[in-house]
Amino acid sequence: MRKSICFLVSVFFLGHILAQSGDKGISIIPEPVSLKTVAGVYKLPSNIVIDAKGNKEVDYTARLLAKQLALATGHKVSVNNSASASIRLLLNKTSNPIIGDEGYTLDVRPTHIIIKANKPAGLFYGVQTLLQLMPKEIEGKAAAKNVAWQLPLVSVTDYPRFQWRGLMFDVARHFFTKEQVKDFIDQMVKYKFNLLHMHLTDDEGWRIEIKSLPKLTSVGAWNVKRVGYFGTFAPPAADEPRDYGGFYTQDDIRELVQYAKERFVNILPEIDVPGHSLAAVASYPELSCTPGAENYKVRSGEEIMDWSHPGGPVALLDNTLCPANDKVYEFLDKVLTEVAQLFPFEYIHMGGDECPKNFWEKSDAIKVLMQKEGIKTMEGMQSYFEKKVEKIVESKGKKFMGWDEILEGGLAPNAVVMSWRGMKGGIEAAKMGHGVVMSPTNFAYLDYMQSDDMVEPHVYATLRLKTAYEFEPLPDGVDPKFIIGGQGNLWSEQLYNVRHMQYMLWPRGQALAECLWSPKDKKNWDWFAKKTEKNFERMDEGQVKYSRALFDQIFTAKKDAKDSLQILLSTEVNGLDIYYTFDNSQPDNFFPKYESPLSVPKEAVMLKVITYRNGKPIGRQIDMPINELRKRAGLKIYGIPKNE
Ligand code: ACM
Repeated sequence: MRKSICFLVSVFFLGHILAQSGDKGISIIPEPVSLKTVAGVYKLPSNIVIDAKGNKEVDYTARLLAKQLALATGHKVSVNNSASASIRLLLNKTSNPIIGDEGYTLDVRPTHIIIKANKPAGLFYGVQTLLQLMPKEIEGKAAAKNVAWQLPLVSVTDYPRFQWRGLMFDVARHFFTKEQVKDFIDQMVKYKFNLLHMHLTDDEGWRIEIKSLPKLTSVGAWNVKRVGYFGTFAPPAADEPRDYGGFYTQDDIRELVQYAKERFVNILPEIDVPGHSLAAVASYPELSCTPGAENYKVRSGEEIMDWSHPGGPVALLDNTLCPANDKVYEFLDKVLTEVAQLFPFEYIHMGGDECPKNFWEKSDAIKVLMQKEGIKTMEGMQSYFEKKVEKIVESKGKKFMGWDEILEGGLAPNAVVMSWRGMKGGIEAAKMGHGVVMSPTNFAYLDYMQSDDMVEPHVYATLRLKTAYEFEPLPDGVDPKFIIGGQGNLWSEQLYNVRHMQYMLWPRGQALAECLWSPKDKKNWDWFAKKTEKNFERMDEGQVKYSRALFDQIFTAKKDAKDSLQILLSTEVNGLDIYYTFDNSQPDNFFPKYESPLSVPKEAVMLKVITYRNGKPIGRQIDMPINELRKRAGLKIYGIPKNE
């Protein structure tokens, strides 16, 4: 017996092979720092015991694991302090300097599993990795039948690259309930995100109860439901009921904060001012500089802004708070008193983005203030506002943070910048010694389309999975100590329900998770694409929606030297075949296979394309009008003969 234990132990320790997750079917997102495998499996017993000595937080992690194990396996699962437990969650007695506060070591041995960490958060992340080592049915909503509940033998050492690993959820444009936000948290922690940024206020809704300002939610949380293309809707008639929306009571917020805390997630509240404030102005019109604001209503998606001006947005009605009005600062003091008490996180995000200045230019009160303060520009006026707001935030014991527009006209002394218009603002702020969170549109905007406009719900821009995966939050030449981390932003103008929210979030959210957690040299697109596909099966078990756009073809339209259209087809993932037709037939793998750039046959009106892998269709068929490709190539559009 002794001999066999010695043999097992030596095989386990000497026989480890350093691996990318992937060996033995292992597929973990985000990729761990180090993963070693050894031959063999650990079989989960029919009576699973989880040992969770430590504290309340560890006990909570153990109970979450127990709940999921019991539900999906149907085995008996208990949490108690047993030295012979099947799964042991242990806080290190002597701190392991390699893994820091959020890292862990995980060993799956032939006889049991041990996760060790310096802090409870590390045990929680170790558990997330452990779950991904289990059969996909672990994500199921009921006990799965005929599953071999076993795990590969591994030894993992893992810790995050960035401290701030965030996702922003815009609950202002469309309201999502407390339970839906909890579900969002449940999903994000699987990929080791630790920060939920809640965009709580905007033109379309004020979503947090402020007891001293009741109209913010009795008026400001409600508009008229419209579907179609947000931003183009007709203004609602005066008698249309304003019954679409909702808000979180303060009890709801406390419940969400606690729920998040138990899963090691901080919630960052955002109160977006001075722009994006129509819901506040409709509730309290005296906050506006503009006469007639008492007739303003919470926006229902009608056009209120002209975005065509290169100098910045021009408002068609004044959706801003007035920086020259003392009542605005009294208002913000009241709001921030309550917000600061509700959210334990050290930062409050005060927005600052896309503030139109054309109504400010007309305000006498602003002219007087600018003269008195020697302010020369409207950007200087916003900077004056931001500095005052920073003081209010700090008076509540919190740190002030805003979108990168807060740099314009001079950054408030202690501000932390969230860089969204590319990385430029973040680089500038970091060079000035300010903390920065990178969330650039070109890598991290999860509301953008994931594939071609022809098959995606229309949004004004595209962000493919592969591009999201290229996100590098730490620019060259910047002191890493100022780049706190990064986050993906999920704006909700076009999100009406949870299923579509999930469709937009995944798998791009998983790509960002790997950019934020895994070492840079562990990133590998081909391997990530494979893991993503495997993870789809887990998400199917968990009934979570996602986009399969990574299998779609990409159209590139060019005009050649003779002003003819050239069409290039490609795919994000390797190993796909592309089949196409120009004669309106539905393409499959009996039609021509794409090999080189295509010219369009005379009078063809449609290019239909589909991707295959190993003889099976895998991407969506995309029917692309030739005129659309001509437009993209900058060529004249044909008149199309009528279809008889
Ligand atoms: C933003 O996307 N307006 C921050």
